[in-house]
Amino acid sequence: MDAYSSIISRRSIRKYKSDMPDLELVMKVVDAGRMAPSGMNTQKWHFTVVLGKERIMEISRFILKEEKSICYDAPVFIMVSYEKDDYFAREDTSCALTNMMQASHALGLGSVWINAINRSGEKAERMQSFSVPEGYRVYGALALGYPDGEVRERDLKAADTIVSILK
Ligand SMILES: Cc1cc2nc3c(=O)[nH]c(=O)nc-3n(C[C@H](O)[C@H](O)[C@H](O)COP(=O)(O)O)c2cc1C
Repeated sequence: MDAYSSIISRRSIRKYKSDMPDLELVMKVVDAGRMAPSGMNTQKWHFTVVLGKERIMEISRFILKEEKSICYDAPVFIMVSYEKDDYFAREDTSCALTNMMQASHALGLGSVWINAINRSGEKAERMQSFSVPEGYRVYGALALGYPDGEVRERDLKAADTIVSILK
């Protein structure tokens, strides 16, 4: 799939097969995140790749305080943390996550941004027992796996309402 077709056809996926993708494929997705642009090229991000239901449930319990997967039962969960309070933390994390969402779609996988950790207040800074580096905060995360079922129709705002052309 060419890059433009991949961008146009990507959707957020919220239902996954239980099949675990090969680690090599998962790492290709992570590499796409590492290749993202970052403010002043500082690359102060860290990617924590969480494999399998058990590990994911440990994080789910810590964040959600209930027996429910934080990532729609996807077999892979990737947390993107960044040096806490860095000027570019949110922007760079967003670039990395967008690259990973596009790459996963182009590689036949599905993904969706999971905001629960970022939204969890200070817990986002206390993820060190889950391999997030000291001084880093989780700003975003991704569910990843093989999509299960049909993909919904797009619901896009009309271009003429959100695009202005100034000549
Ligand atoms: C910053 C951000 C946070 C998001 N957080 C979540 C989330 O926590 N859970 C979720 O299911 N989807 C989340 N999404 C996915 C959006 O709901 C989704 O991108 C939007 O509905 C458009 O659908 P599409 O990605 O299929 O085009 C998030 C997306 C962004 C950009």
